[in-house]
This record gives sequence, structure tokens and C-alpha cells, in this order.
Amino acid sequence: MIQLSETLPPMKPENLGWTSFEDVATIEVIFKLLIGAEEAYRMTEWFLCNSTTELEPEAFSLYPDLLPIGPLLASNRLAYQAGHFWKEDPSCLAWLDQKPERSVIYIAFGSFTIFNQTQFKELALGLELSNQPFLWVVRPGLTNESTTAAFLEGFMDQIGSRGRIVSWAPQQKVLAHPSVACFMSHCGWNSTLEGVTNGLPFLCWPYFTDQFYNETYICDVWKAGLGFKKDENGIITRGEIKDKVEQLLGDKTFRDKALVIKEKVTSSVREGGCSHRNLSSFIKWIHEEDQGYVG
Ligand SMILES: *[C@@H]1O[C@H](CO)[C@@H](O)[C@H](O)[C@H]1NC(C)=O
Ligand SMILES: *[C@@H]1O[C@H](CO)[C@@H](O)[C@H](O)[C@H]1NC(C)=O
Ligand SMILES: *[C@@H]1O[C@H](CO)[C@@H](O)[C@H](O)[C@H]1NC(C)=O
Ligand SMILES: *[C@@H]1O[C@H](CO)[C@@H](O)[C@H](O)[C@H]1NC(C)=O
Ligand SMILES: *[C@@H]1O[C@H](CO)[C@@H](O)[C@H](O)[C@H]1NC(C)=O
Ligand SMILES: *[C@@H]1O[C@H](CO)[C@@H](O)[C@H](O)[C@H]1NC(C)=O
Repeated sequence: MIQLSETLPPMKPENLGWTSFEDVATIEVIFKLLIGAEEAYRMTEWFLCNSTTELEPEAFSLYPDLLPIGPLLASNRLAYQAGHFWKEDPSCLAWLDQKPERSVIYIAFGSFTIFNQTQFKELALGLELSNQPFLWVVRPGLTNESTTAAFLEGFMDQIGSRGRIVSWAPQQKVLAHPSVACFMSHCGWNSTLEGVTNGLPFLCWPYFTDQFYNETYICDVWKAGLGFKKDENGIITRGEIKDKVEQLLGDKTFRDKALVIKEKVTSSVREGGCSHRNLSSFIKWIHEEDQGYVG
């Protein structure tokens, strides 16, 4: 285990940014990318971050030239956010309207995660066993469609209106919907922030790089979620999925913790909050630099 400081949670060497890939060529590309980012970081005076001191105070006190000014959520702006990798399916919002408050598991693994067939089917069967309503984002390319399409069709016939599958969801609207009870997520940073801003507890299913460390924060530091354990074949089984869904939804403390984080995160971007103050002092710094040049 690697621990950068006593105040930071440890990381597993196999979860370092570049090590979670299988082929050497990709490992090399990612490693070089990170070295490049590190070099760029050394040349900057400030490094603006889409995070907040409230979420990871230890990290920001170790690196004082990182300036957290987030979360920079689209919902904080008046503009409509355009531009997604995939086309959104807004019909799921009407489906959510019909579900009881805090009952739906929202499952989305971001833009890049890939599932093999075994794991994909196991997840479907775990959702079936859990007996909760669910909204599942099955993005094109999430798994091999040619081998899973027939399975998925039969599966959804079985599930009926209890479940809904979409190829891409208007995620921030879904997460803010009162019917949603928890977020099963790959723990990418966008998704992590969007979930905590809405006070949702997490079921963590990280896939690569920083997602593992984000999972550590969600589960061990913020205590607002649970991770899954793989079995001896490297599979997260349907039984494990059912157990963790029950454990998370059956224990109010996860939601309570998530609501505490929500309050901290949303107040940090308001006037007087720490992200707001950091942004103001950055703007002030630009003005002073500017005058410095003129003078
Ligand atoms: C998907 O599965 C089919 C049938 O097993 C196989 O022929 C095809 O190459 C697979 N596609 C990908 C992208 O792995
Ligand atoms: C900052 O993070 C939020 C929450 O994940 C995300 O929605 C937003 O797009 C990010 N903003 C930028 C500028 O990257
Ligand atoms: C996160 O949000 C930003 C800003 O909206 C977007 O540019 C970026 O593509 C998102 N990241 C991923 C992995 O979707
Ligand atoms: C999660 O990962 C992102 C990198 O994408 C990083 O900026 C952020 O600090 C991580 N969050 C935590 C709490 O470790
Ligand atoms: C899927 O991945 C698991 C874990 O690595 C492996 O045990 C299983 O055989 C894989 N299944 C297929 C169909 O490739
Ligand atoms: C950002 O805000 C935090 C919390 O108010 C503060 O401790 C920190 O010093 C600020 N960072 C900078 C570089 O001003």
C-alpha cells in the first residue's frame, strides 16, 4: 500500500493511474500522459480544480497551489448544457415520476467502461434479485450487443415496468429526481460530484485509474457508500449485488452521511463558501498581476 501522507487514505499499487490497464502500450501512453500533467503542473502558479476543500481537505492542505473552486455543476448555471458523447433519452424522467419516492436504483458507468458478457448478465440478474425499481444506462458499446441483445430482451420481458433501460440518461436531472434512492456508479469524478451534490448514497463499481481512489473517499472517508467484492473468478455476483443493495438501502446512515456532504458541497460554491472565496481570491490575484505588468 502507498500512503502519500498520514492524513490521506492509502492506495493500492495495482490501482495507480496507469496500472489498471492490460496492454503495455496503453500503460505507457497513460504513464506518459500523467508525467506530462505533472510537468505542466510544475509550470503553473495556480491549478484550478473542479473539487472543493470540503471534500478532500487533507489533499488540498498538502498541495496549497491547487485551488479548488468547484463543483462547477451545469445546474449552477442558467445555460442549458449541450454536448454529450451520446444522445440522451429524456423519456426516463416520466418513468421516474411514476415510481415511489427514494425507491429507484440508478445504474450508470460513464462514458468508457466496458463489461464482459458474464459480468453484464450477472449485474442484470442481481438487479432482478434486488426487487427494487431500477433505471439502467446501457450505453452502446458497454458490452457486446451481438451476444447480449437477445438476453436483454428476455430479461426486460421478465422485469416489466419495474425496470427501465436507456442508452444515455440526462444524468443530472435523474440524480436530482426524488424517486432515486441510490447511485450505482463507476465513481468517475463527474459522476461522484453529481451524486454527492444530490445527497445520494453510492454503490461503487470502479473500473480504472482514479475511480478506485474516489471509491475510497466515498466509502471510507465520507462513509456515504459501499463497494462490491469480487468472487474467486473476478466476478461481482448477483448475490453480492442483492446483498449490497439491501445493506445500503436498509441503513439510513448512508443517506444521512450523503446529505451532510451535499450540504457542505453546495454551500461551498455559495457566497462565503470556500470554493467561492478561492475563486474570488484568484480573480483578485489576476487583477493584481495585471496591475503589476502595467506598473
Ligand atoms: C461480439 O461477439 C461476437 C460473437 O461471439 C463476436 O463474433 C464479435 O467479434 C464480438 N465483438 C466484439 C466487439 O468483441
Ligand atoms: C465539474 O464537475 C461537475 C460534476 O461532476 C461536472 O458536471 C462538470 O461538468 C465539471 N465541470 C467542468 C468544467 O469540468
Ligand atoms: C465531465 O464533464 C465535463 C464538463 O461538462 C465534460 O467536458 C467531460 O467530457 C465530462 N467527462 C466525461 C468523462 O464524461
Ligand atoms: C477523484 O479523481 C479525480 C481525478 O479524476 C481527482 O481530481 C479527485 O481528487 C479524486 N477525488 C478524491 C476525493 O480523491
Ligand atoms: C469475464 O471476466 C471474468 C473476470 O475477469 C472472467 O472470469 C470471465 O471468464 C469473463 N467472461 C467472459 C465471457 O469473457
Ligand atoms: C481555498 O479555500 C480554503 C478553505 O477556505 C482555504 O483553506 C485555502 O487556503 C484556500 N486556498 C487558497 C490557495 O487560497
